[in-house]
Amino acid sequence: MNNFIFQNPTKIIFGRDTIKNIGKEIKNHGIKKVLIIYGKGSIHRNGVYDSVIKSLKEENIDYTEIGGVKSNPVLSKVHEAIEIGRRENVDGILALGGGSTIDTSKAVSAGMACKYDIWEVLEGKRIIEKALPIFTVLTMSATGSEMNGSFVITREEEKKKWSAGSPFVFPKVSIIDPTVQYTLPKNQTSYGAVDAISHVLENYFIGEDRTDVIDEMSEGIIRAIIKHAKILLNDPENYNSRCQIAWGATMALNGNLKNGKDNGDWATHGIEHSISAFTDIAHGAGLAIIHPAWMKYVYKEDIKKFRRFGEKIFNISEGTDEEIALKGIEKLKEFFKEIGVPITLKEIGLNKSQLNDIADNVALSLPRGKIKVLDREDVLNILNLAYE
Ligand code: NZQ
Ligand code: ZN
Repeated sequence: MNNFIFQNPTKIIFGRDTIKNIGKEIKNHGIKKVLIIYGKGSIHRNGVYDSVIKSLKEENIDYTEIGGVKSNPVLSKVHEAIEIGRRENVDGILALGGGSTIDTSKAVSAGMACKYDIWEVLEGKRIIEKALPIFTVLTMSATGSEMNGSFVITREEEKKKWSAGSPFVFPKVSIIDPTVQYTLPKNQTSYGAVDAISHVLENYFIGEDRTDVIDEMSEGIIRAIIKHAKILLNDPENYNSRCQIAWGATMALNGNLKNGKDNGDWATHGIEHSISAFTDIAHGAGLAIIHPAWMKYVYKEDIKKFRRFGEKIFNISEGTDEEIALKGIEKLKEFFKEIGVPITLKEIGLNKSQLNDIADNVALSLPRGKIKVLDREDVLNILNLAYE
């Protein structure tokens, strides 16, 4: 196990009827006025907005707002929000939504505090040195953005979907009330489950020795997510299953599953970001297509770990290392299919001639991957494996 430093500063308030705490938490940080950021309107339909406003008013927190953040959020919206935040003199950001809204809020909080354009950070030319305090009310469990320091933003004109991170943009407080996820469309619940599993896998196959605690935790999280995603398909208001998926997804990307290892592989996420930059499909959908294809492409690099995946996740015990590894990958695809997410690029309407453009886009940020360092040709091979 490698040496490591682990610090996660986000306070989580988890459970039923917890949104009412948001005003007090913001006040405790000395914030006078927040910029509320949200998406395309689900918070107005499921009561989240009203609960938040009530809580802010009770604590005399002033607010202004901007809605309309789209999935796969874009830089132009970040700029618009920064302008409003500056004009209205807010001293904190309050995100109400899923990963897209929280990521936008992180970019806005850093963008407001810095003199340069936040895109320079996403292009890797600058690092964030300060940011306004961020608070979140999570409405969709998937990305882990509620408890990490990462954000992903697309510059739409150039089809560049880049990510950045900083200790300054960890939310101060995130409220996770799983009951507000009852209103999620079925496909979004499934995409969230896929994303969380994919986050675990990005770290899991890193072949450090003696990381049993982290590996067992990772396997437990994946098994629990598989179990409860299946339950939610037919019982979307199952509180216990919503809780398990919610906490599993937060744990999957709050930093603790990489302790003792190198920073994960992340090639799959890199390829997916280019696919969603091109097609605007949901992140979880892209991952369900690419992660099994990537696994098939690289499993020989660490066959014992891929065997362990088949054994521990799907209880496969018969066969050679290779047979168990491959069967595990097939089982993962079967699970994705069962929960109704696409598993091929053809299904999402791409034609083969577009694969080259996507590979070119991924190539802008190569090399990628740790288990196998990928070049453009590797990426194209993976896209072909994922095609049908
Ligand atoms: O916009 P609204 O109306 O709110 O609807 C959203 C949206 O259509 C809807 N939704 C969310 N909560 C709901 C709800 N509908 C009904 N009831 C609720 N309670 O769900 C749709 C998807 O929301 P979105 O925020 O886009 O989804 P997600 O949380 O999957 O975020 C995806 C974005 O996060 C990035 C992805 O690349 C993508 O851009 N990621 C961020 C990461 C991070 N910050 O650490 C890591 C991830 O790997 C990922 O890359
Ligand atoms: Zn992800």
